[in-house]
Amino acid sequence: MTSKTHRLDRFISQKSQFSMSDTRLLIAQKRIKLNGELASSIQQKVDYFTHVELDGVSLQKNQPLYIMLNKPKGYVSATSDPNHETVLDLIDHPRKHELHIAGRLDFNTTGLMLLTNDGTWSRRICLPESKLVKTYEVKVDKPLTQEYVQQFNKGIYFHYEKITTQPAHLEICTEFTAKLSIVEGKYHQVKRMFGFFDNEVLELHRSAVGHITLHNLPEGHYRLLTEQEFTL
Ligand code: URA
Repeated sequence: MTSKTHRLDRFISQKSQFSMSDTRLLIAQKRIKLNGELASSIQQKVDYFTHVELDGVSLQKNQPLYIMLNKPKGYVSATSDPNHETVLDLIDHPRKHELHIAGRLDFNTTGLMLLTNDGTWSRRICLPESKLVKTYEVKVDKPLTQEYVQQFNKGIYFHYEKITTQPAHLEICTEFTAKLSIVEGKYHQVKRMFGFFDNEVLELHRSAVGHITLHNLPEGHYRLLTEQEFTL
C-alpha cells in the first residue's frame, strides 16, 4: 500500500546520505522543496505522492495511477497467483507493478475492477463508511420474490463475522435476474446474501462502483480513469 506518511526528516535520512538531524540545516539552507515549495519544518508530512527535491534533484516523484478493467471469468483478483492468470496479466502498462486492487471479485465474477497505486483512494473505495454503492447484475438459480427485496433491505446476518449487512437495494428484473446495490464488500457478500434463501448465484457481474461505470469497455480491456471518475 502507498498511503503511509513519513516525517520529512525521516524521509530525508532514508532517501539521501543525510541524517535526520541534518534535515533542519538543509531546510534552513533552503535546499529541500516539497511539491515545488521550500520545506519549512522537519515535521512536514511526506506521502507517496509528495514530490521531494533536494538540491534540485528529485528524491521521489510518484504519479497516482487509477485504472478500470472489465474482468472476464477465470482470472484471479490478485497481483500474482501460482496457478491461474491474474487480472494484472490483462494490463499492459509500464507502471503496472505499482498497482493493487481496490475491491476484489471472485474468480468467476465479471465486470468492473479498479486498480490503483493510491492506498488512500482504494481504502475509501472499500470502506463501508464511505457508503459507496457497488452495483451488481445477478443471475440466480431459483425464482426471485419480493421477500428478497424486503430481507436485503433489512439486512442479512453473517454468522462468521457476526454482523448484519447494511441495507441493500434489490431491483428484480426478470424471474431469475436482478440488480443489487450494496455499500460493503464482505467476503462472497452477494453469494452469501442469496445463500440466505438457498438460491445459488449462477452469474455475477459488477457494473458500477459509485459513479464509475464500465460503459462500453469490452471484456478483458482496461483504461485509465478520467479525473472526474477518480474524484470521489
Ligand atoms: N460478492 C460475491 O459474492 N462475489 C463477488 O465477486 C463480489 C461480490
